Amino acid sequence: MATVAQASLALQTALRQVSAEVDRQFDKLLAIPSDPRENLYRAMRHAAISGGKRLRPLLVFATAQLFGVDKTCAARVATAVECIHVYSLIHDDLPAMDNDDVRRGKPTVHRQFDEATAILAGDCLHALAFEILADEATHADPFVRVELIACLSHSSGPSGMAGGQMMDLEAEKTSFDLPTVTRLQAMKTGALIACAVESAAILARLTPEARTGLRGYARDIGLAFQIADDLLDAEGDEALAGKKLRKDGVAGKETFLSLLGPDRARSQAALLVDQAIAHLKSYGPEADLLRDIARYTLERDR
Ligand code: IPE
Ligand code: IPE
Ligand code: MG
Ligand code: MG
Ligand code: MG
Repeated sequence: MATVAQASLALQTALRQVSAEVDRQFDKLLAIPSDPRENLYRAMRHAAISGGKRLRPLLVFATAQLFGVDKTCAARVATAVECIHVYSLIHDDLPAMDNDDVRRGKPTVHRQFDEATAILAGDCLHALAFEILADEATHADPFVRVELIACLSHSSGPSGMAGGQMMDLEAEKTSFDLPTVTRLQAMKTGALIACAVESAAILARLTPEARTGLRGYARDIGLAFQIADDLLDAEGDEALAGKKLRKDGVAGKETFLSLLGPDRARSQAALLVDQAIAHLKSYGPEADLLRDIARYTLERDR
């Protein structure tokens, strides 16, 4: 059993390796053309390369590694999931949504370029995600590719991230109860996190029964992760977070924090982390990275 210090070192190493791999993938995919689309590519690179925690790609890699999945396949799937995440951030920051100027410590895409370019850069990353998954290089078996596409599209659309974003906007105008906020957060943030884990299970061709524990794990860390995002919004350090904070309270947004207060929100998130780790009970030390990730969803400072 690894000590906490060793475990967090293993997590730091994994995060560094995964970040470098995802940067490499984006660098290859987003070569700047010498034509009028140049700024579109520059905008995508600005948002996608060298930034963010890369939590979703790490979840793909950590789960894939548990089942000996080919690393090239995992890298492509991890990049596809991150494409959706980056697109969601570009659009989330637009004036029509959160109207933010800073993301990942840099100007947001619409500030660095312009709104039209930001909308199109988001559109392109959205499409690119599915182009990556549909490619034979991602997996030789077309049934696996279709399952990956179904999972990512479901997690991104009205029943997942985009639907959750709509509910999140409503949460500034309406007072929601705890079950509704839980559903909102599970869609807005949880769906894509769950998809990262599920995609690795798809690559590993796990049976539905074998996926049960992983699904429970992913659901719980997704919620813990969003509670941590809400706590960081209220209490975090802007320089570390690389984005503007103290926004939810000002917007009067209903979140776990507004409903539970900081102490209960934190203990609820800690409970979710413990529960997530309990879902991995059938695995030995080979799942320690997933356990470290569960703790990290709450213990992070950015
Ligand atoms: C921020 O996601 C938006 C939410 C879903 C809460 P992350 O906190 O994963 O952002 P990056 O990828 O590290 O920038
Ligand atoms: C956005 O949630 C979640 C997405 C799906 C992009 P937030 O609006 O709380 O994310 P931050 O705080 O701007 O990163
Ligand atoms: Mg938002
Ligand atoms: Mg936002
Ligand atoms: Mg937030």
